Amino acid sequence: MLQTATSLRQLLRQQRNNISSSDRAKFDYSINQSIIKTALLMRSPKIASYLANDGEPALNLFIKTCSAGPSNHYLPVLSKQQLIFSPYSWGDELKNNCFNILEPSTKHVLPARLLSTILIPLVGFDHQGHRVGMGGGYYDRTLSFMLNPLCQKKPLLIGIAYSVQKIEEIKPQPWDVPLDAVITERGLSCFSIKAKHYLRTPS
Ligand SMILES: Nc1ncnc2c1ncn2[C@@H]1O[C@H](COP(=O)(O)OP(=O)(O)O)[C@@H](O)[C@H]1O
Ligand SMILES: [Mg+2]
Repeated sequence: MLQTATSLRQLLRQQRNNISSSDRAKFDYSINQSIIKTALLMRSPKIASYLANDGEPALNLFIKTCSAGPSNHYLPVLSKQQLIFSPYSWGDELKNNCFNILEPSTKHVLPARLLSTILIPLVGFDHQGHRVGMGGGYYDRTLSFMLNPLCQKKPLLIGIAYSVQKIEEIKPQPWDVPLDAVITERGLSCFSIKAKHYLRTPS
């Protein structure tokens, strides 16, 4: 089982890395436009995204747009096997962490529960919004508070992926936190009522 999950992650990461640079440029443009076209930038005051790593879709255009708008933008910072979130506007100083991933300064960090939306990179996803990550469980540990049935205020979780990362079915583990929606180069798929309501295109 463990071996199967590991080989599935390897295969999906390989497919993601094999996307040609011309396709990648087109796909990234579509993904960024899809995010920008949702009502997120008007309705979500605190949005976290990520800097692309290992062939993940690059959200640079979204980050630049968000930095110039009314929402506050954040990037994840690794802390004690979890992620906390630091304000980041395009052009701010960044430093490498122990995984060689760039992070902003940690002066004014926020816990995930205080964010309104988190754009999450992923390795695989299915038609119900189950997600496979890199295997470290960082987002699951960070978002575990959302599995508490008494938790009322939850950030909207949007997976960001290329369509080749969609797989038939992912059997979720008890600690896996499901996504509200996924955005690929083919557009937006909503899995929760909250996402359908929140992400409708403004008329
Ligand atoms: N809420 C949590 N508390 C403690 N450990 C966790 C939690 N969530 C995930 N983990 C650990 O992280 C490991 C990787 O999680 P997994 O869901 O397989 O990775 P990913 O989500 O990155 O694909 C799991 O084996 C599990 O032990
Ligand atoms: Mg998981």
